[in-house]
Amino acid sequence: MEAHAVNPWVAVAYLIAGICFILALRGLSSPATSRAGNRYGMLGMTIAVVTTLLTHAPLASDYVSVGYAHGYEWLVEFVHLDVVTAIEILAAIAVGAVIGLTTARRIAMTAMPQLVAAFHSLVGLAAVLVGLAAWLNPGAFGILDDAGQIFLPSRIEMSLGIAIGAITFSGSVIAFLKLNGNMSGAPILLPARHVINFGVLGAIILLIAAYVLSGAGGPGEGMLIVWITLLAFAVGFLLIIPIGGADMPVVVSMLNSYSGWAAAAMGFTLHNTAMIITGALVGSSGAILSYIMCKAMNRSFISVIAGGFGADAGGAGEGGAREQRPWKRGSAEDAAFLMKEAENVIIIPGYGMAVAQAQHALREMTDLLKEHGVNVKFAIHPVAGRMPGHMNVLLAEASVPYDEVFELEDINSEFAQADVAFIIGANDVVNPAAKTDKSSPIYGMPVFDVDKAKTIFFIKRSMGGQGYAGVDNDVFYMDQTMMLLADAKKMVEEINKSLTD
Ligand code: TAP
Repeated sequence: MEAHAVNPWVAVAYLIAGICFILALRGLSSPATSRAGNRYGMLGMTIAVVTTLLTHAPLASDYVSVGYAHGYEWLVEFVHLDVVTAIEILAAIAVGAVIGLTTARRIAMTAMPQLVAAFHSLVGLAAVLVGLAAWLNPGAFGILDDAGQIFLPSRIEMSLGIAIGAITFSGSVIAFLKLNGNMSGAPILLPARHVINFGVLGAIILLIAAYVLSGAGGPGEGMLIVWITLLAFAVGFLLIIPIGGADMPVVVSMLNSYSGWAAAAMGFTLHNTAMIITGALVGSSGAILSYIMCKAMNRSFISVIAGGFGADAGGAGEGGAREQRPWKRGSAEDAAFLMKEAENVIIIPGYGMAVAQAQHALREMTDLLKEHGVNVKFAIHPVAGRMPGHMNVLLAEASVPYDEVFELEDINSEFAQADVAFIIGANDVVNPAAKTDKSSPIYGMPVFDVDKAKTIFFIKRSMGGQGYAGVDNDVFYMDQTMMLLADAKKMVEEINKSLTD
């Protein structure tokens, strides 16, 4: 079967979809324009899907097996790889849409990172399945030359797509299990892990080269593809298990990038320009995000993608013996009184604010403080919460004005002039161990200099609870710190009550 010729209208439609995706990314770069960005993304995807369906679905009956299935014809027949009707496609879309809608409606904001990891795993798995389908029935994909062999570029795209997709799948499953708490966030460090990782990666590269250069098909070729797939599944697993909890933000954005490259490779196999554009956009934006995350956490990009290079056995999530040191308990009334009298208050929100859904009460608190002439600012750490932009989304939802929200590097020097640092559900992002304790899993990550503020209020539920990295925090025991031990929302509501009394 010949390669599909590209209809100029299809090219135009895909181009429009591509422009929508670029506008979507642009919109998503700021909370103020993110809703518009989302709409552009949905519009682009609708155009891309409808165009693909109109172009391909009516041709479904042409999709015939051409007897090039390397002895696996029974499998092609069994899973109906050569028969795809519009009805079957629409039914699959309907099932996916129902699952997607139900999940989106039910998911708690705090579970968003694991949902994202789960979605990445599906993209990876889809790339593997498309690649295997194309390999089993290349005639249906229009990737056979006159001699009945798969085109050389298609062999490269397919094998790379399968390998990247499989790494993305198993890596994302491990990321999901770690983020969801089904697996410890602590790094699992195999002996000689770097040797194993490089060995398996090297073997995959050799197998891909062997497959690409192998020419005509045959049973041996089938085994090459099977081994590429299995080893790539193993690499995804091996790369993610040694990564400690505190480095998870980088992992999630890195897997996002991988899923994009896997989709782009499959876009080439499927001759689908929209998929190539989308995959490349996801791949490159994910790579940029990973770089930003690494910079924010002062981590080396290479060391994280190489699978926890530099992580040592005493890493994240292991907890440590909690010292019995004196600390001061404060009350809502103390906080209300001192903040009312303050000139400058800086609020540092973290994951606990998201858990408690305290953002609306917090916005109310800032309004009340402003009525007392207090200058209030929000300080947002790039990895606060459990996903990039987590705090910004919640504060935007509560209509906190954007000009009151500041990034780490823009506000960190202001703590020295602050009367109050108000920490609400944040922990790791204010932990000075990141600056002083070389053995700490968060060592090297830039953190807020809250210790420079005159008074610190620290909201968390108990002295026993630890932050994501599982390490003790010296700020609890500082002279100027008052611990406000309660659920964040309840505590802020009580402070608001005291502010209005
Ligand atoms: P964490 O260090 O995780 O600290 C959360 C704090 O919130 C804890 O002190 C916890 O103490 C408290 N808390 C939990 N529920 C609460 C509630 N209902 N009311 C009041 N307090 C509550 O948070 P962070 O400072 O935002 O740091 C983020 C961490 O997550 C970093 O280590 C980062 O690397 C990691 N991470 C980030 C991302 C992204 S992309 N942002 C993704 C994965 C991991 P109690 O249990 O005692 O209440």
